[in-house]
Amino acid sequence: MRLAVIPGDGIGPEVIAEALKVLNEVVPAAEITRYDLGAARWHATGELLPESVLGELRQHDAILLGAVGDPSVPSGILERGLLLRLRFELDHHVNLRPARLYPGVRSPLADPQEIDMVVVREGTEGPYAGNGGLLRKDTPHEIATEVSINTSFGVERVVRDAFARASNRPRRHLTLVHKTNVLTHAGSLWSRVVEEVSLQHPDVTVAYQHVDAATIHMVTNPARYDVIVTDNLFGDILTDLAAAVTGGIGLAASGNMDATRRNPSMFEPVHGSAPDIAGQGIADPTAAVLSVALLLDHLGERESARRIEASVAFDLATRDHQSPGQTYAIGDRLAALVSSNVRTG
Ligand code: NAD
Ligand code: IPM
Ligand code: MN
Repeated sequence: MRLAVIPGDGIGPEVIAEALKVLNEVVPAAEITRYDLGAARWHATGELLPESVLGELRQHDAILLGAVGDPSVPSGILERGLLLRLRFELDHHVNLRPARLYPGVRSPLADPQEIDMVVVREGTEGPYAGNGGLLRKDTPHEIATEVSINTSFGVERVVRDAFARASNRPRRHLTLVHKTNVLTHAGSLWSRVVEEVSLQHPDVTVAYQHVDAATIHMVTNPARYDVIVTDNLFGDILTDLAAAVTGGIGLAASGNMDATRRNPSMFEPVHGSAPDIAGQGIADPTAAVLSVALLLDHLGERESARRIEASVAFDLATRDHQSPGQTYAIGDRLAALVSSNVRTG
């Protein structure tokens, strides 16, 4: 197994160190190559993602990323030039973001019930496509555009993926989240594709919600969701909210996948570089550890993935959530749990 690791910025390297401890317990033979992309490299050389590095990344089975973004770098440089460039170049059209309320974890909701959903966020189009610009810059009449791109090819492939996932889950329910009442062009494309693909999945029940209403339901009754399929920006926003209602952003994992498997998929916590707590050793590495589980599952190492998830579930069920401990202590605990699980089978 050849893995590329991009620790990145802020708490990225802190949580990745713990994720690698856990990975080492289940796949000690994994061949790991580190890439020092991020703020420090940009400051030192001006480089974000050199072609040669991109070429090397392509030679790996998967990529594990911590987080990118730093207050010392103008907003968007690293996010667009590194993270989004990776997602676009490697055709990561399925951005998979499960959100589950683990036993023992306290949701901020009074009565959360059983939350177990997966958000299938489109990953290569929408307002993220970079189709925008400035006119009459620095004049009182400046115009800024960020035009959302929605292709029938792009929408169909992510909708198909979401239906396939819904089909394989016990509740077989899919919710399209969009804003068809205002974004009528993209909205009708998304609605039509969902309707068409649903004909091939009579086993899956389908619902639709406007994104504003979805934020209400995400707080008042998130247990209603099974699979959500949505565009790039709505999916970004909804998954931070889904993480919050399931116990916090420190637990939320994600996979940026090329479902065709032509390019390596990339796994990363949903959270960012958290400059407000970086360097303090208090970031929760659980999201990074669960991202390793998603990575292993994607590579067909289902048993190893299951072991990691079971260890996280055990730790969360027994954790003192008031004082969960330092980043390294959580990592040590998870690594020990995984290792004892490995030994006892
Ligand atoms: P953020 O996710 O970094 O932080 C939001 C809040 O969550 C902060 O209060 C932070 O302390 C907390 N938090 C995040 N991860 C945590 C963890 N593991 N344990 C405990 N608390 C945690 O979002 P932000 O502050 O909006 O963004 C900071 C930077 O990260 C920006 O540069 C942004 O562009 C970037 N970013 C990168 C990614 C990514 O690399 N995938 C994702 C989101 C944001
Ligand atoms: C995420 C982040 C990124 C996104 C940013 C940093 C480009 O917020 O992974 O959720 O918007 O996709
Ligand atoms: Mn985000």
